[in-house]
Amino acid sequence: MNQYLDAALDAARAAGALIRDHFGRPLTVNSEEAHDIKLELDVRSQALITDLLLERFPEHAILGEEGSAENAATEFEWVIDPIDGTVNYYYSIPHFCISIALRKKGEIIVGAIYDPMRDELWHAESGGKAFLNNKPIEVSQSTDISQSVVSVGMSKTTAEIEVGLSIFQDLLIHARKCRMMGSAALDLAYVATGRFDAYIERSVNWWDIAAGVLLVNCAGGRLDIAPSAVQSGKLSVLAWNGKIDRNQLTSIYP
Ligand code: IPD
Ligand code: CA
Ligand code: CA
Repeated sequence: MNQYLDAALDAARAAGALIRDHFGRPLTVNSEEAHDIKLELDVRSQALITDLLLERFPEHAILGEEGSAENAATEFEWVIDPIDGTVNYYYSIPHFCISIALRKKGEIIVGAIYDPMRDELWHAESGGKAFLNNKPIEVSQSTDISQSVVSVGMSKTTAEIEVGLSIFQDLLIHARKCRMMGSAALDLAYVATGRFDAYIERSVNWWDIAAGVLLVNCAGGRLDIAPSAVQSGKLSVLAWNGKIDRNQLTSIYP
């Protein structure tokens, strides 16, 4: 197996075990906002992942939600969300994951997402297939929005929530069902697995989506990623099975 993929999977499993062990137990809150919570465990999970990766590849750079380590001398950068779905985690809702990707010269070459509560481990390498627990996966076959289940993310600020809400409202009427699950990385993994037909969020960071973007691509789906019009420095993402007409998914907010 590719040494990078191997490292990503080992780190995802190790961090998954850490956060699963603490699930439902008292947690230390580092900071709280109106629509977000940051935990000491977010930081510990990232430290564990970073240590494991840098032990094998000491020269690689890190871009993580809980901190980054730049290195202009390397073409390799790990993109890490140590707990994606922290608010779910804090409220003992078992829907969150660890997301780890590797970029080489900016191109995502490895992706791993681990849901430790369901023991579901997704992975992909650029140019290959996407896998869930080592079985190949594919996006869904739906061709029309009326037969589709679409996940919409709304992130954290009032502006982000307002945009997300207008998309959600439109899709609630046109799709079979809409969902808001609280983990962008799992939303993408679910699109790759055919559980969701599409996922839309207008304000995310690379650590939320890097691994999932590769999964969706390798599972035969399509993605539109652009700078966010809602929050500068963030990204807008639409991921879908590639079979539904894109216009049906973006009529409210192109
Ligand atoms: C958040 C989750 C959520 C999404 C937000 C993300 P976090 O990540 O993925 O589903 O709507 O945009 O920031 O804070 O739990 O790592
Ligand atoms: Ca996240
Ligand atoms: Ca996070």
